[in-house]
Amino acid sequence: MERIVIQGGRRLEGRISVSGSKNATLPLMAAALLGDSPSVITNVPQLRDIQTMAEVLRSLGANITVTDNTLTIDPSGFANTEAPYDIVRKMRASIYVMGPMLGRLRQAKVSLPGGCAIGPRPIDLHLKGFEALGADILLEHGYVIAHADRLRGAEFNLLGASGSSVGATCNVLMAAVTAEGESVIHGAACEPDVVELVSFLSKMGAKIEGAGTSTLRISGGRPLHGVAHRVVSDRIEAGTFMTAAAITRSCIVLENAPLEHMEATTAKLKEIGVAIEPVDGGVAVRGDCGDFKPTSITTGVYPGFATDMQAQFMALLATVPGTSIIRETIYVDRFLHAAELNRLGANIRVLSGVATIEGVERLSGAPVMASDLRASAALVIAGLAAEGTTIVNRIYHIDRGYERIEQKLRGVGAAIARVSDAEPEPPITE
Ligand code: EPZ
Repeated sequence: MERIVIQGGRRLEGRISVSGSKNATLPLMAAALLGDSPSVITNVPQLRDIQTMAEVLRSLGANITVTDNTLTIDPSGFANTEAPYDIVRKMRASIYVMGPMLGRLRQAKVSLPGGCAIGPRPIDLHLKGFEALGADILLEHGYVIAHADRLRGAEFNLLGASGSSVGATCNVLMAAVTAEGESVIHGAACEPDVVELVSFLSKMGAKIEGAGTSTLRISGGRPLHGVAHRVVSDRIEAGTFMTAAAITRSCIVLENAPLEHMEATTAKLKEIGVAIEPVDGGVAVRGDCGDFKPTSITTGVYPGFATDMQAQFMALLATVPGTSIIRETIYVDRFLHAAELNRLGANIRVLSGVATIEGVERLSGAPVMASDLRASAALVIAGLAAEGTTIVNRIYHIDRGYERIEQKLRGVGAAIARVSDAEPEPPITE
């Protein structure tokens, strides 16, 4: 078991380079199965979730080679119609293979993704889209089994009770590009990850209109070939480092931050009192410009405030004098980090999907437990600001989505180290 140990209270200074986006890469990996030749995807972050998706694709017969940040996906052996529980249970995004399986093999048996620390995460909208395209769906023995002699273009709406779904839009889109005739998807997600997938599929030969809007028009059935594609930078990783600069009242420069996808995050940071200024080769994030003000945040679908930034902002707001409010509308139970932040001295109450945060003068280091990927990031960020030593346990969550986070933070002066249980004393850097 590994932990991250942080000696808090240091100012950060220097540059951090933002990696490629995990959540943009995962659907592209699945989409590569649709080509009749290999695809090469570059700027891929080296993360546990990417390895898991590679494992899923291999289990279906694809050949994957990984060299540093480049993935080559050869789909010529793609013939297996079952994605088994042992692999799918490791990562919910494995469900992304269902669209390409239905599209190319006309059959898919995929283990149903199970529970999740951030709350219920149904796949009903994915299945609704596949059914609209003509698939028969059966849920049996923990598997979803889909079959279609032929997929036919159709017009349907994928809007759910919490708004549009990134996963359902991407998954159904990958099936729709193989369907005969035109499909129109209403209620499509507008997230940059969907736009990235549309760009990838279009390079492969698909015809899709409306990327970045809630209506996608697809002319299906065109031949698809392998492509070369560079993944967009990770807006959530960039936002996480911005909150790190803010919570430590420091200034760091981010290289490759995709600011065009981060409007809601940067607007909130500016409202709180953080300055964000373009500089040579990047963007300077200044948390050292004066007093911070509390704020109120409501998460929402893009271009709204991302639920994946909620935990990190909660950590930051815990240190801002006054009362801040966070309403979570995407995953109303995604608040497990609040109790852990309270262990660090924060004053946060959660009731019915709303967190009330009373800013405190200081956080104090303590051992804490990560519950999910973004919660882990929030605890690391809080640890950077807390007096004394913070130990973040269960950091396997963070390895799913942050490439070399402790190295990147050490590079800007944080006292942060990864230790394993075998070592008697946590070696704090410097
Ligand atoms: C993606 O998950 C991300 N994961 C999540 O990031 C992110 O939190 C989420 O989008 C929202 O932005 C990946 O891209 C791999 P959704 P996804 O379908 O696609 C409901 C992280 O930390 N819904 O857009 O699974 C759902 O319950 C992760 O990197 C249905 O009701 O999310 C939620 O309330 C965590 N039925 C809302 O829609 C469905 O069939 C949005 O979920 C599907 C979703």
